[in-house]
Amino acid sequence: MTSEFVTRVSIQQAVLELTEGDITRQTVDAIVNAANSSLLGGGGVDGAIHRAAGPQLLAATRVLGGCQTGDAKLTPGFNLPARYVIHTVGPVYHPDDETIPQLLASAHRRSLELAAEHQLESVAFPAISTGAYGYPVEAAAPIALKVVYSFLQRESSLKLVRFVLFGGPALAVFQRALHDLTQQHTDIRRL
Ligand code: APR
Repeated sequence: MTSEFVTRVSIQQAVLELTEGDITRQTVDAIVNAANSSLLGGGGVDGAIHRAAGPQLLAATRVLGGCQTGDAKLTPGFNLPARYVIHTVGPVYHPDDETIPQLLASAHRRSLELAAEHQLESVAFPAISTGAYGYPVEAAAPIALKVVYSFLQRESSLKLVRFVLFGGPALAVFQRALHDLTQQHTDIRRL
């Protein structure tokens, strides 16, 4: 009886894992920030990352000229255990706008592309857009995981992609979505 909840799989040469916790405490090459287009900080994960990184982070983002929804920009991590922060802007959820899923996918893809461009090996994502931006996590999780699966089909520096979920319900939704993904793709091995 295969569990409907999966937490760690291999995809080609990399590992995709789900965990519950605080993204500001992840010791990875880069953590992804669910920012807004100003890149000047905010609440939620954005606020937590700026608090943990210290004021140098805002000084670094202030000169970036903002970020388009679906795009991503990289800064140092300063006081964070992660070396870098990849600031991405997810879409605000609108149920009847079909560009919204594409923008959510793009935010994840651009973050992975940026990590690979900098030869990073490990990246941690929060559940982008599922807080203040109102994206139902049940709809966001399959989109996020599919982008990671597709990206890891190509050779890159990435060896670990981790989703750090804040609170039980989000983790269970991602675990179920990962289970569904393993059912669709035989090249995904459960670890
Ligand atoms: N670690 C991991 N995940 C976290 C943390 C944390 N420390 N804090 C919050 N989260 C989770 C939330 O529970 C939610 O599931 O991150 C997810 C994203 O929620 P938000 O931070 O609200 O981000 P988002 O929905 O993308 O909205 C972005 O909120 O904070 C502002 O400046 C930000 O305007 C932007 C908007």
